[in-house]
Amino acid sequence: MLSEEVAAHGLEVGCRPRRIEIFFDRAAGATYLCSGAGGAATGWHAILLATPDFTFHLKNGIRADLPARATPVTDPAERRALLVEVVADLSQPHDPGTIRPTRLEDWADSRLMCISFRPLGRDRGPSRIYFRAVCWGCQTPGMSEHTARALRLFDELAAGYDEVLPFFRGFAGLQVGWLDPVAGTVALDLGAGGGALTGALLGRGCVVTAVDGAPGMVAKVARLYPEAEVRLMEAGRLEFADASFDLVCAGFVMHLLDDPAVAAAEVRRVLRPGGVFSFSTPCAVEDAPEWDFYGELFREYQPYVPEEKGRLGRPLDGEKLLADAGFQFLEETVVEQRLAVPDPDTFWNWAMSHGSRAFIDALPSPQREEFESRLRQELSTMNPITHPTAATLNRGTRMP
Ligand SMILES: C[S@@+](CC[C@H](N)C(=O)[O-])C[C@H]1O[C@@H](n2cnc3c(N)ncnc32)[C@H](O)[C@@H]1O
Repeated sequence: MLSEEVAAHGLEVGCRPRRIEIFFDRAAGATYLCSGAGGAATGWHAILLATPDFTFHLKNGIRADLPARATPVTDPAERRALLVEVVADLSQPHDPGTIRPTRLEDWADSRLMCISFRPLGRDRGPSRIYFRAVCWGCQTPGMSEHTARALRLFDELAAGYDEVLPFFRGFAGLQVGWLDPVAGTVALDLGAGGGALTGALLGRGCVVTAVDGAPGMVAKVARLYPEAEVRLMEAGRLEFADASFDLVCAGFVMHLLDDPAVAAAEVRRVLRPGGVFSFSTPCAVEDAPEWDFYGELFREYQPYVPEEKGRLGRPLDGEKLLADAGFQFLEETVVEQRLAVPDPDTFWNWAMSHGSRAFIDALPSPQREEFESRLRQELSTMNPITHPTAATLNRGTRMP
């Protein structure tokens, strides 16, 4: 957000470093600045026209000073294509910036600049602009499309996350029960989501910090658990000093990451010698033939899902991950919980309230309708509906 003070200084600020906070947008795989539906002159735009080299400073969650250059976008067709994306982003249900208007025609004359990032180490240029890393697209420079897609989805799901059926809360209880931390344990909930593990750890008297890459989840955990310290942060770039925690727990997160090994190394770094890293991953339930149809339905519809969309998780060998990262005293167990589902509607709402939503939303609409109706049909033959679910729990100890 541009302050009046900076606007008043206009071009003068090109001569001395100043700090401006402003939202940025991601469109067509690049980073843009765009503001002012009316198109009138404003400070940040004037500054960057005069001094296009500046520092793109990320300060929420991911902290980085990136040398960058701003180039005005003037071609009408290019502007329109980009503004369509910007407006679509602003119009999504979760719009933390609450910027209006969001009709394309109102943005036609807006100030629009493309940001290119220069190699680190070169002169950073005279102006210094601080950008607020909000989650329109949840993507910051250097973040992969896969991570950005995952964070966008979880950001959108935050409000109703783990509220339809107590799936994550149930497994968090089982994981914390297995770990059995003593009161006073200094714990980190990595990829905290709605705070299932945070709640269970606080219930054991732990001192809890929760981090997540999706702003909506961070806001939710902060609201639900005011006792915890909650921060927006990427799992692979933990902003904590070495040896800060006794215990790091991650519930259904590690298999979503681009590079779980990078996150495991970060976890090892922030654990004290003797500290424990534990994570859960989903796994198949044995001996529930009446639910085989559910997995088969996903397999049958998989070919309709574009390659870069669909499921967010990947298979993960938890023991190997821990061993490769240097953890010792490895343990693994499988836990199960049976969810009592009142009716098919509730099951469908649950399927749409967590990660499986990515797959369902990626189906073309005729197949999506078919998928839903076949699922409901199967569920309507069950009375009661009891959904068996399972998770693998892993743990390893960081030795000196
Ligand atoms: C399946 S949810 C599980 C949430 C929670 N741990 C639980 O058990 O309910 C995964 C969470 O990991 C977060 N996440 C995914 N990728 C992440 C990343 N690279 N950095 C930080 N958080 C991430 C998502 O925003 C989401 O809240």
